[in-house]
Amino acid sequence: MRKVTLLVSTILFILTVYASGWKDSTSPDKWNSFSGDKKIEQRVDSLLRLMTLEEKIGQMTQFSANWSITGPVMSDDFKPYLDKGLIGSIFNATSVEGIRRIQQIAVDSTRLGIPILFGQDVIHGYKTIFPIPLAEACSWDLALMQRTAEIAAIEAASDGINWTFAPMVDIGRDARWGRVMEGAGEDPYLGNRVAEARVIGFQGGRGGASLGALHTLLACGKHLAAYGAAESGRDYNTAELSEHTLRNIYLPPYRAALEAGVGTFMASFNEINGVPATADRWLMTEILRDEWGFKGFVVSDYTGINELVPHGVAEDEQHAAELAVNAGIEMDMTGATFIKYLTQSVEECRVSEETIDNATRRILEMKFLLGLIDDPYRYLDEVRAKENTMTPAFMETARKAVSSSVVLLKNEENILPIRKEKAITVALVGPLMNDSINLNGEWAGLGDRNKSVSILEGLTEKYKDSGVNLLYAEGSAISETSPAKIAEAISAARSADIVIAAVGESFHWSGEAAVRTDIRLPEAQRQLLEALKETGKPVVLINLSGRPLDLSWEDEQMAAILQAWFPGTQAGYGIADVIAGDVNPSARLVMSFPRNIGQLPIYYNRKNTGRPVDLTDETIDYKSNYLDASITPLYPFGYGLSYTTYAISDLRLDKSSMKAIDDKITVTATVHNSGAVDGEMVVQLYIRDLVGSVTRPVKELKGFQKIALKAGEVRQVTFDLRSKELAFYGIDMKKKTEPGNFRLWVAQHSDDNENEATFAVE
Ligand code: NOJ
Repeated sequence: MRKVTLLVSTILFILTVYASGWKDSTSPDKWNSFSGDKKIEQRVDSLLRLMTLEEKIGQMTQFSANWSITGPVMSDDFKPYLDKGLIGSIFNATSVEGIRRIQQIAVDSTRLGIPILFGQDVIHGYKTIFPIPLAEACSWDLALMQRTAEIAAIEAASDGINWTFAPMVDIGRDARWGRVMEGAGEDPYLGNRVAEARVIGFQGGRGGASLGALHTLLACGKHLAAYGAAESGRDYNTAELSEHTLRNIYLPPYRAALEAGVGTFMASFNEINGVPATADRWLMTEILRDEWGFKGFVVSDYTGINELVPHGVAEDEQHAAELAVNAGIEMDMTGATFIKYLTQSVEECRVSEETIDNATRRILEMKFLLGLIDDPYRYLDEVRAKENTMTPAFMETARKAVSSSVVLLKNEENILPIRKEKAITVALVGPLMNDSINLNGEWAGLGDRNKSVSILEGLTEKYKDSGVNLLYAEGSAISETSPAKIAEAISAARSADIVIAAVGESFHWSGEAAVRTDIRLPEAQRQLLEALKETGKPVVLINLSGRPLDLSWEDEQMAAILQAWFPGTQAGYGIADVIAGDVNPSARLVMSFPRNIGQLPIYYNRKNTGRPVDLTDETIDYKSNYLDASITPLYPFGYGLSYTTYAISDLRLDKSSMKAIDDKITVTATVHNSGAVDGEMVVQLYIRDLVGSVTRPVKELKGFQKIALKAGEVRQVTFDLRSKELAFYGIDMKKKTEPGNFRLWVAQHSDDNENEATFAVE
């Protein structure tokens, strides 16, 4: 009997649908969509007309699949909603088979059969895991970052995923905050370029035009806004910052993501100006939609709406849901507040039906664009999933991404590279030398941690059949060691010419809710390094971490330091390429490394203050300095060494002034690979606006180029510095380029002042 009823209602529904035209509508409509495609707008509206208020709110509801450890068992939390067609999106459901099972329920057993949108945190790879985003940003190679996002999209989309919660584009100035590992570091200019590259990579092109191609994912710019400004680096904490800093430093990368066509945004957990982002109409509607013209949809972060209650701006969850939806949040991630309360809120006129309609339209449009409405199973194909997973080509890109992301911080007496031809013995030690588990870092998607190539494996493979003889002893675990373990390492070191120690953090120590107040290497590892140092053998440090660490002691004591972050699936091979000199390191830091934790937050684009420090004599009293440390970082933004040397000279500007609007100055400089090895160099263009209506940073990156130079090669680089690049939000909170005098540098890093020029804006 139940079956017959279902059949009849399905037939009736199909007839209604076709009569109403939502499968192929021609009815007129005025809705402003993301795609601007009138036909899609009509189809969205036709579908919307068939929906009950509750079904619309259902589309605005997202749950986590909460797969059980043993497999895709559906959670009791969301199953009842799924059965009634009251879920728009599910995340963390994995595998073609698992996703198909959920989709079948949504499509075949609910009144309207609207397919589910499947989300996932595909942050730095899906199964092939690339270096953490902070590491990849250090490559300054935008094409590479776009490509790794493309590969992540191919793998995830082939496995049935439609939507990634990436890129994370939060500016990170405080290494205590564990989520710096997910971003592109401290600089808004670089942050903008990286945001664009990643959105284009995930979505298969600019402007969302390729959404729906089977190898693409809908992207999500997160976390709007200033999540990275958490006070004292404590995750989820209040962001206390001026509107100038918000607009000039933190907001630009979200805007860049939008301009690249990102289809969705995620609200951040934190408050700004006393208003949690999830309830912030100024941010989510006035800035994001009215000022910037965003037409996609906004999802809350995980229970971000419920959290308005402990934030202290909502009486209860119903109030929280109303604040969020009226602020401009269209989808509730896991909190179930919309589905539980908004029907009543609409009936009692605290939320308008128009607000619900527009939110639902935006979500439905994405489902149309992804092709899910026309074919809910189009992404679900086991053969494609298999063919597009961890292919040799993906592995090759991952290996290149590793060698492009490791930053050489120190290299005394050119101890690196250790070329294969050398006849020497090298002792390999340290907790992360023979480790696979930590290499993928946090947010490692579905990457199999056991499949990541350890550094030991990579070096063993590299030096097989070579003059280099390898010994191995662990010496210490991440947080503990013993005299016996240290003794083994010392014995290996004594029998060797050089020691390589792979040290660092556990992958759990960075990522969400992973904040540290001591960012030095753990005591046990320090003990190991001290003991190794006492052997008198030179120690090369490979540091793996999800954040800049305080490496002051190591900088004094170690012969070389290679910052390797968390490199992912191909870690060992990519690192071995650099150690052996098959790849010349070319990465440059995107976050300043502090001298100690007391300096945090530390960033190169700081303000001068009224009492600037004389960097040639930091002891002068009553200046903005420290009594017990320099104000400078240990390693500055933009810094990184190579196996060759570079020189910049002959800086020229084609004119000494430009107009404030629609003008440019062409900057040229000569770059010379003055060493004996081919390499890639990141040429960086910085400016300083000397006087503004509000104070300006002491330096701002305004351009960069990564160029390959053969040993001895000399090349001219050219930058077009456009007047609009100098614009900022001034005293009237309007963005414009102010007339005045500027300094300019073409440099190797943010602290390199050798090649300086001046110009004016009229
Ligand atoms: C919370 C995190 O803040 C966010 O970045 C992530 O996308 C969601 N959880 C979903 O996992």
